[in-house]
Amino acid sequence: MARDHSTLVLGIETTCDETAAAVVERQPDGSGRILSNVVRSQIDEHAPFGGVVPEIAARAHADLLDGIVAQAMRDAGLGFSQLSGVAAAAGPGLIGGVIVGLTTAKAIAMVHGTPLIAVNHLEAHALTPRLTVALAFPYCLFLASGGHTQIVAVLGVGHYVRLGTTLDDALGEAFDKVAKMLDLPYPGGPHVERVAMGGDPARFAFPRPMLGRPDANFSFSGLKTAVRNEANRLAPPDPRDIADLCASFQAAVLETTADRIRAGLKLFRDQFGPTRALVAAGGVAANLAIRNALQDIAARAQTTLIIPPPQLCTDNGAMIAWAGAERLALGMVDTMDAAPRARWKLDENTQTPTKFINTRAQH
Ligand code: KG4
Ligand code: ZN
Repeated sequence: MARDHSTLVLGIETTCDETAAAVVERQPDGSGRILSNVVRSQIDEHAPFGGVVPEIAARAHADLLDGIVAQAMRDAGLGFSQLSGVAAAAGPGLIGGVIVGLTTAKAIAMVHGTPLIAVNHLEAHALTPRLTVALAFPYCLFLASGGHTQIVAVLGVGHYVRLGTTLDDALGEAFDKVAKMLDLPYPGGPHVERVAMGGDPARFAFPRPMLGRPDANFSFSGLKTAVRNEANRLAPPDPRDIADLCASFQAAVLETTADRIRAGLKLFRDQFGPTRALVAAGGVAANLAIRNALQDIAARAQTTLIIPPPQLCTDNGAMIAWAGAERLALGMVDTMDAAPRARWKLDENTQTPTKFINTRAQH
């Protein structure tokens, strides 16, 4: 069911601690436009606990989602009957929130007779760059958020090969845990980055996990433990110590992450040939030092670095709507029995591909 007219898709995101809804328009040439993008962060609700509390998140999504969807429709100037599709993130994520989002999407789809698209949240991150730039497949994605750290070969809509993943903590989670042990506010990433700017990255020789391995996996728990041990030894660390701990932690993160991405790009090249871009997404992609390192890696690999604008890098409804629109354009719609999923590997339905879908730049 290829479409030769533009489509309007509502996207709903509730897998973690952002309640979000957006409307996106997709043109037949593959270009996209955001008509509305409403995000309500629950950071204030979770901050006292130093991390996301699933029960609080689920209740907040249930309280907020109706109003957020209504606002997204108002901002877009549309009624539900004008939509071509309704997409929701059906996982992976905290199951209470996923149920709220997917059930809401099903209700809207059922009442208005609109196709439902159950989107994998990771797939939405993977396809987001194509919403704002003309990027053809295949490309290499580095996704680093509070819940995920992966290197993925994005070969086509629905065709992904995971080249690397974390064996323990996600990178954002490691930033958050280091922040917590140093009494910095939640979420910790931006605070660790800020404090690190005034610190000495060479004072503590923290481990560089996985360095030099041919696979493209990550591990951060040993590094995190090393920071904790040093902080305990200094107890209580003074502001200078905290700055040096943050700077030394970030230096270790930079070195190991750069090494892992280089390994991922090599695996990509060996299996799929040259990548059209290195794409970074997820909250950690906001980190300036990491961005600079990525820029350097991309230049050395003779490819382009693409980082979607910050509001599209972190969790939002537009990325779900866009993934829904990309799937809808290929006739990939779901039925009302689509299940909410706490776990959902991005590449679980991808066989080793023999060719790339849709490699032509589309707009
Ligand atoms: O993608 P995101 O907004 O939400 C999900 O986790 O899904 O990512 C949030 C994560 C948090 O762990 C946060 O500490 C981290 O991204 N983060 C950063 C920075 N800004 C956000 N980590 C390092 N440096 C930053 N500047
Ligand atoms: Zn995410």
